Amino acid sequence: MRIEWDKEQAEKDGYEHYMLKEIHEQPRALRNTMTGRIDQGCQRILFPDLGLSTEGIKEIEKVYIVACGTAYHAGMIGKHVIESLAQIPVEVDVASEFRYRRPLFKGKSLTIVVSQSGETADTLAALREAKRHGSSILAITNVVGSSIAREADHLITTNAGPEIAVASTKAYTSQLIAFYLLGLYLAQEKETLPAQERQILISALQKLPDQVELVLANAEGIHSFAHSIKDEGHLFFIGRGLDYAVSLEGSLKLKEISYIHSEAYAAGELKHGTLALIQEGTRVIALSTQAELHEKMVSNITEVKARGANVLGIALEDNVELHRSVDDVCLIPSTESLLTPVLSVIPLQLISYYTSVALGNDVDRPRNLAKSVTVE
Ligand code: G6P
Repeated sequence: MRIEWDKEQAEKDGYEHYMLKEIHEQPRALRNTMTGRIDQGCQRILFPDLGLSTEGIKEIEKVYIVACGTAYHAGMIGKHVIESLAQIPVEVDVASEFRYRRPLFKGKSLTIVVSQSGETADTLAALREAKRHGSSILAITNVVGSSIAREADHLITTNAGPEIAVASTKAYTSQLIAFYLLGLYLAQEKETLPAQERQILISALQKLPDQVELVLANAEGIHSFAHSIKDEGHLFFIGRGLDYAVSLEGSLKLKEISYIHSEAYAAGELKHGTLALIQEGTRVIALSTQAELHEKMVSNITEVKARGANVLGIALEDNVELHRSVDDVCLIPSTESLLTPVLSVIPLQLISYYTSVALGNDVDRPRNLAKSVTVE
């Protein structure tokens, strides 16, 4: 008997698309990115090959993060992480802006370039620009032998495995893990975080892969939500702080593969313009995972509901009050505030995936886009 098989089908491992396969590979990708970087007793972060000395870390006065697309959105979370844990001021830029805006490099700085492929032309040019100004370069990349990995002074690999779908998923969440590990490491070496708080965060970090599995296992409601938005002309994502950064990524995912226009807005900024676009039936996805911002988010949700919006809330499972303010709710497992992006982005990835499938689009190869942009 002759069995016909298609190489691409085999690589998809039974999934209809690479993107869905890669979404489901996230628990493993996150575990692999943590492997070897946390000590046995879960007390300390280990980066023996990073080449950043304790003295060198203490001297860093400024961190720049540069990246494109999804990696830039990971960088926005990285800013929160490094500033709050290691107390170092951070600027985040899209690489194509950074390379031409003449940033002022003063004192000792560390430039973190984030790139799944390690080959993005603008990110590589930004790396060279920062290097020319004497900044030391730390690369977070998924491809070990890439140009960015080779030209950087320090390297953190995200061990997510090959990512084929143009819309990035497992590379993004692995980049977040790399930032958590780095932020904790800088804090540990600078002693800016009490050991007990570091341990709490490390143990919460280690639970994330299992929690992502839970989100994936309980995602059936997302299917029907995706169907319900497939004919919308536009959609809004709102959030504050880390939730705003995740909103940007959710909005990008939806645009990339469903071709539905969407806008992510810092929820407190709505009243300064975007609120004018909210009318009867406008679909809004509201992220509210940050306990200290919850009340503010509820008032922003009330603002859009009062104009007729239909709101899907994304919140932690222990946030029962949100149910009363929204039309639908998607709950994610509870974790430390700083770590919620790894969980809250999963429903957003699935929403964009199922919407694209419902529209009959080419999910893995969306129009006009490339996996790696190696020209300017
Ligand atoms: C392209 C891809 C995006 C990706 C961006 C940056 O535009 O379509 O998904 O986020 O490049 O890629 P990089 O490999 O540098 O992370």
